[in-house]
Amino acid sequence: MSDLTEIWVISATSGLAVGLVGLLAGWFLRHRTLRWQLAVVGVVTTLTVLVGVQAVSRRMLISDHDRQVVLIVTSAAAVVSLAVALLLAAALVRWSHGLREDVRRVGEGDAPSAARRGPAEFQELADELSAATARLAGARERELRLEESRRELVSWVSHDLRTPLAGIRVMAEALEDGMAADPPRYHRQIRGEVDRMVNMVDDLFELSRIHAGQLTIEPQVVVLGDLVSEAIAAADPVARARQVTLGGEVPHGLQVAADPAGLTRVLANLIVNGIRHTPADGTVYVQARPVDGGVELAVTDGCGGIPDEARGRVFDVGFRGTSARTPESPLADVHTSRAGLGLAIVKGIVEAHHGQVAVENVESGWGEVSRPGCVFRVVLPG
Ligand SMILES: Nc1ncnc2c1ncn2[C@@H]1O[C@H](COP(=O)(O)OP(=O)(O)O)[C@@H](O)[C@H]1O
Ligand SMILES: [Mg+2]
Repeated sequence: MSDLTEIWVISATSGLAVGLVGLLAGWFLRHRTLRWQLAVVGVVTTLTVLVGVQAVSRRMLISDHDRQVVLIVTSAAAVVSLAVALLLAAALVRWSHGLREDVRRVGEGDAPSAARRGPAEFQELADELSAATARLAGARERELRLEESRRELVSWVSHDLRTPLAGIRVMAEALEDGMAADPPRYHRQIRGEVDRMVNMVDDLFELSRIHAGQLTIEPQVVVLGDLVSEAIAAADPVARARQVTLGGEVPHGLQVAADPAGLTRVLANLIVNGIRHTPADGTVYVQARPVDGGVELAVTDGCGGIPDEARGRVFDVGFRGTSARTPESPLADVHTSRAGLGLAIVKGIVEAHHGQVAVENVESGWGEVSRPGCVFRVVLPG
């Protein structure tokens, strides 16, 4: 073996031995701070040189002077590499403390600081943290909105029940005392109020079944033409009373597998909403058409468009718009409760069919007096 080959073999073997010891040390120190790991790297590098020089000098004739030279140079290198390792470690520790601080702030609901710090990996962690914070804030916001809707719902429902009940009591007392000027009118009004309350309680019951996941869908083949014309016929008196034109079109023979009662309710809610939000001489139009993988039912009205901030919330339980807090004359609307439950029920029924419902604004609706409006689209899988 030539000299140089021997030197290669000896230094590789001793280097390997030192490296293994270093790895072992690293493993024992794995739970300590980063400083220790980096110190191990510095020490291993220096030791490899020292041990290699010693081993080689044992086998060969290296003058004492030469050996000392090598020793001095390596010792200086050792000091420098250890110092650099410790400084780097200190910086890494500082950056990781910064990250930890950010995580703590996120935990307390604050935003992480936007400072760029440390190596690429740390930066990626920080970016990931910011993204997670944004998602968390979104979820919190949605949760708050739902909570607010629910609170409003409870207070509106109690209000909406108390007002007609108070009215009924006054009318009943008047009838009892024989003070009522026009008893048949009082009877009719009492009937109307009771109908409205029954509808509201029905809606609440339906919604609680939807939320409890107890809504049972019994899909049958439904001929959409029949279903739509029945829904239009049922809502026609309301439309006439409000001078809104109601119409629709369905391709001949279009069918879908759905729960007929559920789908009727969906259509009725959408149509009555459309009529209610369309001014006199406007038009509400119902359309069905086959789409990719199912059918689409679209109800277009002339409501003038729903503002962006309200459009995201119309399907929330208890949401009834920003300007809808004072109920209109009850007799104008005996068919619905107006408690902000209708669209939440629509959504629940549609989702129980594995379908989707969405709303968008349109520039011009149907009819001779075409106004901007909105269209509610229900897509049911075929
Ligand atoms: N067709 C529509 N055009 C404009 N706004 C609508 C329409 N349908 C619903 N909205 C808005 O969404 C709210 C919620 O509707 P809904 O859930 O049916 O409750 P409710 O009819 O009891 O008020 C309504 O109060 C209204 O502000
Ligand atoms: Mg409604």
